[in-house]
Amino acid sequence: MSAPTSPPKDLPKTFHVKSFGCQMNVYDGERMAELLAAQGMTAAEAGANADLVVLNTCHIRERATEKVYSDIGRIVKNWDGEAGTAPMIAVAGCVAQAEGEEIMARAPSVSVVVGPQAYHRLPEMVATAAAGGRATETDMPAEAKFAALPKRRKSAPSAFLTVQEGCDKFCTYCVVPYTRGAEISRPFSDLVEEATLLVAGGAVEITLLGQNVNAWMGEDHKGRAVGLDGLIRTLAANPDLQRIRYTTSHPNDMTDALIAAHGEIDKLMPFLHLPVQAGSDRVLKAMNRSHSVESYLRVLDRVRAVRPDIALSGDFIVGFPGETDAEFAETLRLVDAVGYAQAFSFKYSARPGTPAATMADHISAEVMDERLQRLQAALQRDSQAFNAASVGKRCHILVDRRGKLVGQWLGKSPWLQSVHFMGDAAIGDLVEVDLIEAGPNSLTGRLV
Ligand code: 5AD
Ligand code: SF4
Repeated sequence: MSAPTSPPKDLPKTFHVKSFGCQMNVYDGERMAELLAAQGMTAAEAGANADLVVLNTCHIRERATEKVYSDIGRIVKNWDGEAGTAPMIAVAGCVAQAEGEEIMARAPSVSVVVGPQAYHRLPEMVATAAAGGRATETDMPAEAKFAALPKRRKSAPSAFLTVQEGCDKFCTYCVVPYTRGAEISRPFSDLVEEATLLVAGGAVEITLLGQNVNAWMGEDHKGRAVGLDGLIRTLAANPDLQRIRYTTSHPNDMTDALIAAHGEIDKLMPFLHLPVQAGSDRVLKAMNRSHSVESYLRVLDRVRAVRPDIALSGDFIVGFPGETDAEFAETLRLVDAVGYAQAFSFKYSARPGTPAATMADHISAEVMDERLQRLQAALQRDSQAFNAASVGKRCHILVDRRGKLVGQWLGKSPWLQSVHFMGDAAIGDLVEVDLIEAGPNSLTGRLV
């Protein structure tokens, strides 16, 4: 440990946690904020400079590291504290895990580097930094973290609950198995307890999170082996919890029981995010996805058989090394065949240390741009068609915020569409509406 340029003199009084990337990072960010609050620090007001800034970073795609350095520069530049002092900066998340040592070497204004499995140790690391030292922690024993975090107290109407972390799939383009480590499932009883606390604290909807959430495994109260479907069934028995979702899933872990659950559990929302990445079996093999186009489509057919109105979502990567025009055309055909309600699509980005990064035939930026545009046009067309087909339906909306207009509210439909409506409501209400109009990114509802 060596001293940063100008160490803060006291423990920080205010903090700000800035999360990038996936929903798991959002969850981790909330837990870090709770942890710091439990130490007596308060969240800085919006727009105000905080004594401690935690950058909760994402490493999944391009320019993650450069972004961290420019954020650090901005925080230091904007600091308006006493002369001679500096803000305390902690880098957390997957960039911290992957490049922590380099960050410590290159950015003297950073005094804490903490990986995604070690953030329960943030308070002691902050104390070290306040005393003028620097602290790095990138160990990966995930269970220790959850046990050491404070109990949940308050929740927004829609809450995240991480049930599973890490990934053993090793898709050849992906950093997650390296930054988040091996797959672990949190114990059943811990999850039931956390869900109960979230609901008591105001959650109406819980989204179960994991890099491979449908690989979750546990033992129920009676010691019986259960999968994600069993966990969902138990959580659904809580009368005050109205909605359950889960993300992100791997096609190979869509068990018969989980598929059946979509037809049996009303509180399990009719939405499935099931990344496919590409529509060519050759590319899928090079990606080490361990499923084929056909096996993926078969899973979707079976889910649709038990839940015909299910909204499907996916992830796509265009321009994986060696992807030909004909192979990309297969991705477009897959999209046409599925009719996604929504989807995320990305240009392939070489991640250092992954097998794909050293593969031959990297695709040029122009070709990737062109493919991404074509794919996104097709996905946009399908999501608009999905929304248009929803007009005329009556459904419940979980209200999550006020709209821009006086008396306007925004919320989510069962199919995860954004819906706005006018009238009497409050955040956290489940209100019934008729969907009367579809715009490009949202729907208009009318209170029933
Ligand atoms: N390049 C581009 N996209 C990627 N993803 C993961 N790794 C990469 C990469 N190296 C995408 C995948 C994944 C989503 C979370 O991010 O589509 O499902
Ligand atoms: Fe990454 Fe593949 Fe694991 Fe998803 S399944 S986290 S893409 S390695």
